[in-house]
Amino acid sequence: MPQTDEKLLASKISPLIKTRSLGHTLHILDEIPSTNDWAMQLASEGASHGEVLISDSQTSGRGRLGRQWFSPPGVNIYLSVILRPKVPLERCSQLTLVVGAATSEALSEMTGQAILLKWPNDLLCSEMKLGGILCEAIIQDQSLTGVVAGIGINVSMKRVDFPQDLRTQATSLCEITEQTIDRNRVIAQLLNSMERWYQRWLDGGWGEIIQYCNERNALQGKRVLLTSGRESHKGIVQKINEEGHLELQLDSGETKTFLEGDTTII
Ligand code: BTN
Repeated sequence: MPQTDEKLLASKISPLIKTRSLGHTLHILDEIPSTNDWAMQLASEGASHGEVLISDSQTSGRGRLGRQWFSPPGVNIYLSVILRPKVPLERCSQLTLVVGAATSEALSEMTGQAILLKWPNDLLCSEMKLGGILCEAIIQDQSLTGVVAGIGINVSMKRVDFPQDLRTQATSLCEITEQTIDRNRVIAQLLNSMERWYQRWLDGGWGEIIQYCNERNALQGKRVLLTSGRESHKGIVQKINEEGHLELQLDSGETKTFLEGDTTII
């Protein structure tokens, strides 16, 4: 695996951060099982809103639905942010789309390319997976005290560096821009963007977030197979609705919305 010379350094990230609350405390390690698990641990010990955990590699990086997240050293971003919003509990599930919008905007601005959202948590460029988001609830004494927002972005991986099964489905920032990318700069831009979208969300901008997600919806108008638990449905994607759920027009003609699920374009 080719590694870039550039190391993950707080001294390079911090001067580029223009936020009020996110990323003022940066924890950076060379290796950890999973930054989300690490964030959960620190959160349970009282870590504050906005603390960011970054690792150069993960030995048990996790994706959605218990999948493994390929996390080799020196080439990608594995980052988790502790968020402690003071909002009603049910709103916290909206954070996957808030973080998705922020990540899509940051990466689109950096690359000059359309980075789309594949509901609920994938980031795609030209239908290839560039990254993903894994938001998990922080539960303390049986109540929700925050959310860990985990972000994985493929940065300097070349096509041959991906395992065989991902090679035709995954891409990286350096592949799509044909340029060398400094991970420190991407991290700062991500946090700056995340703070703007998070603040917008707190300020009642959920409708605007949904609109943005629909404008960047990689599944819009596509025929998909959606699996959710033991159920699977085929239909055409209509939109992400005002609750952040995916609306499909099923083959039967019926319109149905899904709160969660895994989609494949067919
Ligand atoms: C997905 O697409 O299924 C979500 C992938 C999320 C991966 C990130 S990498 C940083 C954080 N730590 C983890 O173990 N997972 C998330």
